Amino acid sequence: MIPRRNVELDLDPTVVPRDWYDGDPFVSSHLDALSLLFPEGERFFVDSVKQLRHLVDDPDLQRRIAGFIGQEAMHGKEHRAFNALIDAPGVERWLRGFLQGVVRRVLSPRSQLAVTAALEHFTAMMAESLLRRPSMREPMHDEVAPLWLWHALEESEHKAVAFDVYVASRGGYLRRVAIMLLATVIFIVVAFSVQGHLLARRGALWRPWRWLRGLTRLYVWPGEYTRLIPAYLDYFRPGFHPDDRDTTALIETWREALFGDGGALAGHLRGEAA
Ligand SMILES: [Fe+2]
Ligand SMILES: [Fe+2]
Repeated sequence: MIPRRNVELDLDPTVVPRDWYDGDPFVSSHLDALSLLFPEGERFFVDSVKQLRHLVDDPDLQRRIAGFIGQEAMHGKEHRAFNALIDAPGVERWLRGFLQGVVRRVLSPRSQLAVTAALEHFTAMMAESLLRRPSMREPMHDEVAPLWLWHALEESEHKAVAFDVYVASRGGYLRRVAIMLLATVIFIVVAFSVQGHLLARRGALWRPWRWLRGLTRLYVWPGEYTRLIPAYLDYFRPGFHPDDRDTTALIETWREALFGDGGALAGHLRGEAA
């Protein structure tokens, strides 16, 4: 079941520091860059699924698609509220132009869906690690953490939807892995370019020590990204399916922690539909 939760986080911009991830400008700006990419990126994900959902016969998958669309729309809304705090005019508009004007014109609907399945694997990996690893989530500022934890929970809940629609639309292995390679390169270039832009705007681009500290954190110790490499490579296995990694118990734990009785976000839930 993929619930559509109507969540209003009511982020208070006055209490969020610019370097909200443990005072670390590199990691904070990296996550800011991801947040700037989410609203338009998720709109692209939803469109790519909608384009081919008529090929899905399974009513259960159709219900999961509805949940996926509802969840991604909510993420877009709340990340936009967060993005209003980031000094980066034009990034979202640029991304929309790139996705709508280039990617949607160049790639077939099935390849667009393969892009979505690939990037949903990225978000699922990051989400699982955020939910599992206190070392990744504890440095987050208290005002900002709920946005990322709620988003991570829902990315875990719907991690297989785009993949299942891709398979139902008779998407094959070679396209899936070729597009994953392409999406990886584009994602890394875009994410780092946006981050560089953010650091440059505040005159902090050429501070090697900050880069070193942030890169060490992500790639050496605790090495949050390096730890994801095996899960990333798993996508290239011919029989891969997102549910091969069992996150059921993890999802249950976080549903309770965020939306159960007395949960951290129970007061921010304005409604829920299955
Ligand atoms: Fe999302
Ligand atoms: Fe997603």
